[in-house]
Amino acid sequence: MIGKLNHLAIAVPNLEQAIAKYQDLLGAKVSSPQDLPEHGVRVVFVELENSKIELLYPLGENSPIEKFLQKNPNGGTHHICFEVENITNSIAILKAKGARVLGDGSPKIGAHGLPVIFLHPKDFDGVLIELEEVKK
Ligand code: CO
Repeated sequence: MIGKLNHLAIAVPNLEQAIAKYQDLLGAKVSSPQDLPEHGVRVVFVELENSKIELLYPLGENSPIEKFLQKNPNGGTHHICFEVENITNSIAILKAKGARVLGDGSPKIGAHGLPVIFLHPKDFDGVLIELEEVKK
């Protein structure tokens, strides 16, 4: 079902400092910040040759990243994202096999303008998994 690792996401307590570290210290290409109010995040992507790193910063009231940073004040790995070809099929298969899909169970539009869903970390060894539909 899952294809490539699309990105790994890190919650950061200071976005400007995090951008500077990846851009200036590590010499990576970093995208411009993008606000995703539906997900409660401001996001930038660190572009790597084989994948991306998503830097997440809280946006608005009740951001899930705000809660994460309260528990992890220094920041930390927040989720990993795998590509799938058909997200509706993937959701149906996962639900039929007892995995829990977060939210209302239907895909939202994510940072790349593509449908995404999140799977319960308790079903995946403590790791929050995002699935993103990427057409081949
Ligand atoms: Co993500």
